[in-house]
Amino acid sequence: MSSNKASILGIGSYVPDKILTNLDLEKIVDTSDEWITSRTGIKERRIADDNQAASDLGYESAKRALKDAKMNASELDLIIVATISPDMIFPATACIIQEKLGAKNAAAFDMSAACTGFIYAITTAKMFIEAGMYNNILVIATEALSKFVDWEDRNTCVLFGDGSGAAVVGKKKSAKQGYIIDSCLSANGLYVDLLKTPGGGSRYPASKQTVKDKMHYLKMSGNEVFKLAVQSMLEATFEVLEKAKLKPEDIACFIPHQANIRIIQAIQKRLKVPDEKVYINVDKYGNTSAATVIIALDEIVKQGLVKKGDKVLLVAFGGGFTWGATIIQL
Ligand SMILES: CC(C)(COP(=O)(O)OP(=O)(O)OC[C@H]1O[C@@H](n2cnc3c(N)ncnc32)[C@H](O)[C@@H]1OP(=O)(O)O)[C@@H](O)C(=O)NCCC(=O)NCCS
Repeated sequence: MSSNKASILGIGSYVPDKILTNLDLEKIVDTSDEWITSRTGIKERRIADDNQAASDLGYESAKRALKDAKMNASELDLIIVATISPDMIFPATACIIQEKLGAKNAAAFDMSAACTGFIYAITTAKMFIEAGMYNNILVIATEALSKFVDWEDRNTCVLFGDGSGAAVVGKKKSAKQGYIIDSCLSANGLYVDLLKTPGGGSRYPASKQTVKDKMHYLKMSGNEVFKLAVQSMLEATFEVLEKAKLKPEDIACFIPHQANIRIIQAIQKRLKVPDEKVYINVDKYGNTSAATVIIALDEIVKQGLVKKGDKVLLVAFGGGFTWGATIIQL
């Protein structure tokens, strides 16, 4: 069967070995395991080594996804990396991973859509495949956010973690193969200031003063972000279901962005879906931004929590603001 639909041919994920628990954080800032657990659901997060940058984490998940797809890196036509913690402002982290993988035939670029990065990137890959421009695309979401977090700011440092996930996207070749059914993407730049890393760009170039003012660290207005996260992820979920002509009960597993268990529970309540259909791993990894949904997808597949033919809905929200959702048939 020839088709112009895009399938996920392989997935993989990688998190660093080092675990930072809430009890460890109690020794760093004025916080408690009780506060972090009750307000966020997070118990621990992974932290990259001093010598591990976003590309190193992304490279590990990319190798796993390629192995899962039984594909050689030289068969890749394009690498898209979603990250807000790139190795450098430029060149793209995608180019660094391209070289490490030996993906010599692949074009490569980064995407900045914060925690919605994977949804934006996989949707872009889907469109490249459906347009017939490329056959095999590697989408990587990778974050080394521990390097951008102010470890003296209890409002943010307890929330984030490091990790990466990757998916190989290619042409759907047989009727039995699953595919990316539909996606929706949104943004509203009105909220740029609520979640940002202000320093080090061309607005506030790095200087002694920007470093003194800690402008190179991630800043967030938690409360306002919370409300808009719930509202926007619900909106995206309903929009993508409607586009795909599906109902919540048609979805075998919902994977919401893993930032805070209370955000996930608020969405679940409005969608009226049972606990067993909503995957949660925020307790283990905290918020790994672009990587949360693909790490979760890898886990549900590898743990056998879903089966071939099942439909999975990924929905995310992040800085920008950006938000979006995608439905994948496995
Ligand atoms: C950050 C967040 C957990 C805070 O929870 P909250 O219930 O809204 O808490 P508040 O912001 O009202 O803060 C309550 C108090 O806890 C304090 N607090 C903040 N972080 C704390 C910590 N780690 N430990 C202990 N106390 C803390 C605050 O200073 C505040 O104290 P105050 O009342 O004396 O000023 C929550 O707003 C949130 O998850 N927001 C969304 C964040 C997010 O998901 N961002 C990424 C989206 S992609």
